[in-house]
Amino acid sequence: MRLIRSINIFCSLVISVNGWSSKLPEERELTTNCSNMSLRNVPADLTPTTTTLDLSYNLLFQLHSSDFHSVSKLKVLILCHNRIQQLNIKTFEFNKELRYLDVSHNRLKTVTWYSLANLRHLDLSFNVFDTMPICEEIGSMSHLEFLGLSGAKIQKSDFQKIAHLHLSTVFLGLRILSHYEEGSLPILNTTKLHIVLPININFWVLLRDGLKTSEILEMTNIDSKSQFVSYETQQNLILENARTSILLLNKVDLLWDDLLLIFQFVWHTSVEYFLIQNVTFGGKVYLDHSTFDYSNTVMRTINLEHVHFRIFYIPQDKIYLLFTKMNIENLTISDAQMPHMLFPNYPMSFRYLNFANNILTDELFKNTIQLPHLKTLILKDNKLETLSLVSCFANRTSLKHLDLSQNLLQHKNDNNCSWPETLITMNLSSNKFADSVFKCLPRNIQILDLNNNQIQTVPKETTHLKSLQELNIASNFLADLPGCSHFSRLSVLNIEMNLILSPSLDFSQSCQEVKTLNAGKNPFRCTCELRHFIQLEKYSQGMMVGWSDSYICEYPLNLKGMRLKDIHLSELSCNTALLIVTIVVIMLVPGVAVAFCCLHFDLPWYLRMLGQWARTQHRVRKTTQAQLKRNVEFHAFISYSEHDSSWVKNELLPNLEKEDDSVLICLHERNFDHGKSISENIIRFIEKSYKSIFVLSPNFVQSEWCHYELYFSHHNLFHENSNHIILILLEPIPLYCIPPGYHRLKALMERKSYMEWPKERHKCGLFWANLRAAINVNISDTRETCELQTFTELTEED
Ligand SMILES: *[C@@H]1O[C@H](CO)[C@@H](O)[C@H](O)[C@H]1NC(C)=O
Ligand SMILES: *[C@@H]1O[C@H](CO)[C@@H](O)[C@H](O)[C@H]1NC(C)=O
Ligand SMILES: *[C@@H]1O[C@H](CO)[C@@H](O)[C@H](O)[C@H]1NC(C)=O
Ligand SMILES: *[C@@H]1O[C@H](CO)[C@@H](O)[C@H](O)[C@H]1NC(C)=O
Ligand SMILES: *[C@@H]1O[C@H](CO)[C@@H](O)[C@H](O)[C@H]1NC(C)=O
Ligand SMILES: *[C@@H]1O[C@H](CO)[C@@H](O)[C@H](O)[C@H]1NC(C)=O
Ligand SMILES: *[C@@H]1O[C@H](CO)[C@@H](O)[C@H](O)[C@H]1NC(C)=O
Ligand SMILES: *[C@@H]1O[C@H](CO)[C@@H](O)[C@H](O)[C@H]1NC(C)=O
Repeated sequence: MRLIRSINIFCSLVISVNGWSSKLPEERELTTNCSNMSLRNVPADLTPTTTTLDLSYNLLFQLHSSDFHSVSKLKVLILCHNRIQQLNIKTFEFNKELRYLDVSHNRLKTVTWYSLANLRHLDLSFNVFDTMPICEEIGSMSHLEFLGLSGAKIQKSDFQKIAHLHLSTVFLGLRILSHYEEGSLPILNTTKLHIVLPININFWVLLRDGLKTSEILEMTNIDSKSQFVSYETQQNLILENARTSILLLNKVDLLWDDLLLIFQFVWHTSVEYFLIQNVTFGGKVYLDHSTFDYSNTVMRTINLEHVHFRIFYIPQDKIYLLFTKMNIENLTISDAQMPHMLFPNYPMSFRYLNFANNILTDELFKNTIQLPHLKTLILKDNKLETLSLVSCFANRTSLKHLDLSQNLLQHKNDNNCSWPETLITMNLSSNKFADSVFKCLPRNIQILDLNNNQIQTVPKETTHLKSLQELNIASNFLADLPGCSHFSRLSVLNIEMNLILSPSLDFSQSCQEVKTLNAGKNPFRCTCELRHFIQLEKYSQGMMVGWSDSYICEYPLNLKGMRLKDIHLSELSCNTALLIVTIVVIMLVPGVAVAFCCLHFDLPWYLRMLGQWARTQHRVRKTTQAQLKRNVEFHAFISYSEHDSSWVKNELLPNLEKEDDSVLICLHERNFDHGKSISENIIRFIEKSYKSIFVLSPNFVQSEWCHYELYFSHHNLFHENSNHIILILLEPIPLYCIPPGYHRLKALMERKSYMEWPKERHKCGLFWANLRAAINVNISDTRETCELQTFTELTEED
């Protein structure tokens, strides 16, 4: 630990672990990075377990034999950009695992060799060797894949020593090149050869030899100050044994005629893919397409990127036609400040054309261009203005992909568009399109990018784009999500950065197929209308891209800056209909409950009974003891018809006497004195009883009532307010059943001052309670005699 800290003062340590066996200390990767620290010597206290050591960009000028002894696990050593002048490979003799050694960009003149059998990457480029630093020992490094070299002289004998190695990359980083022996490079066996030339060198020989050497050839720094072989000799130069299929030229600065000669030369070699990057060309244009021999080539793709002119007058037709007459598969001329492009007036076989980052205008389509095989056209970042012109051109092709982004394109309503049926992806982003663009879209379009235009609505009369799957309409001025009535198969919609306040329901209703929706960064108004949109996210988990951080309320001001996710809009407060329904329901519930009780439990009956009970209680309380003094012996005298006797004995008596056996009941059949007349008995017992209960039924009216009618007419006991009489209506008695002379009964029945025997069982409890209350009075004063009497009467019966 102490050790690591002391190094940390200088170099940063990075411990990384590899794979599953990371627990073993030997497997651990330790990077010690001492890059750019103005070191003059290799630090003495390196961590012994270091596997990668970066000493680049320092001031090292000498390595000592013991410098790397301590770091025996070293695999990667980077010493580039120092000032080392001498290298003795024996310095690394204890670093048996060294695989990667970079000593490029130093001042090496000599290398003392020693075999490092495990080395895969050895970089000695950009040093100042006189001759290539190659010796037998390199030849014995059978694992070598990358070899970087430099030297003022290149000769066959050097490469011969490594001819048997199968390298993947040979890199020649040359600071000076004073002599090149022709035929040296092809001795190498490598997949890729990259040569960085010193300035002012005749690249021509190297180009020719390079093409014979590797499959991929890259050459950097090609400039026209080099001595060029005359055109006449070059014309007839046919390269035998060329191997290269991919040729990359980088940082090219040539006269036009020299550039054209390179094209002509490469045209007849094995190169299929030719990329020229960062080209500057100048001079006069003497040679053009008419002198170009287009025959006999395997070329398929030409890319020219980042082109600068150093000439003021450009004979456009000569230059453009040179390329368009090539009639290859793929042609790219991008970032070349081209104002125009010309095509021969016969059908060409281009399939892929890329003229991105130029200054092409509508002029391009003024002449008929015949490209029947064209599949991809990229006109990104130009100055085109009229979409219908592009469509007319496209209709004569079999275009599938069209990139018109970053132009000045518009569509005017009165222009007619006709796209080919084949067109499926179109990039119209960053143009000046308004709503009318929807009238000029290919019918089979699948992916459409309208990002960053001036669209305000998706018009209703848009043609049905039944294949459209992806629509990017971000950064426009839309005020609502478009519905999918015109895009029935839409699955990806990007509509961020528009002016959507509250998306309408139409989207969630019509866009069932949409799997991905990006509607973030809109100025949402967080009111009730937004609720279904927030719910849309809840029910379609993961559908909304950028949820929840990109979905922020803009209005109302008190919610500004809040995330939609955190807004709570309750169902009740937002839904007017629901609110009304809720209020109505709340008000209806008691009503319905009351109605239900009335219908199902016969509430009015209960109320009536309760009323009676309350009145009775009131009366009982008012009954003075004095009233009772009138020789009362029974609580109640019961009169009934013989037909109803079973009810009286099975229902009435058990219930009246149930709770309290002190209730004394007088029955005419058991208490009447048979020696006296009925009338006499009636009078006697009514007067001895606190209350008289009549069990009314048609039978009773027929057989018994006559006695009472007589009694009532003679005695004034019965009057309007009489409390002594309780009528129980056992069965309904229609008025016509009451014989004509029974005025009292009729009057009673009409006044409805009777207790009705309830048919429903559950009502009986209240009935009895009511009845008991009516007869409940303390008659203890007279009780003794009554009890005695009742007892004797009962024993008599037995
Ligand atoms: C060391 O650090 C420099 C920047 O300080 C970085 O560019 C370099 O890649 C690092 N080296 C390694 C081996 O990580
Ligand atoms: C080295 O460090 C200096 C300043 O510390 C910085 O300006 C320079 O770019 C660095 N060089 C490299 C190659 O990292
Ligand atoms: C170059 O190496 C490859 C294997 O990487 C081998 O097949 C080929 O024959 C070699 N070419 C020559 C010319 O030795
Ligand atoms: C070519 O030039 C462009 C800009 O002009 C630059 O970004 C790019 O790095 C250059 N490429 C090479 C390989 O030099
Ligand atoms: C032409 O370009 C297209 C698209 O970049 C690519 O897929 C195709 O392979 C290229 N064809 C050739 C022959 O390079
Ligand atoms: C577009 O091309 C189709 C056939 O590819 C043709 O029927 C149609 O007339 C063309 N439209 C125009 C306006 O040229
Ligand atoms: C359309 O072009 C722009 C740039 O011009 C690019 O950023 C975007 O990804 C392209 N869209 C599609 C769908 O490829
Ligand atoms: C568009 O087409 C209609 C008929 O389809 C034609 O009458 C009209 O002139 C055309 N407009 C233009 C600008 O070509």
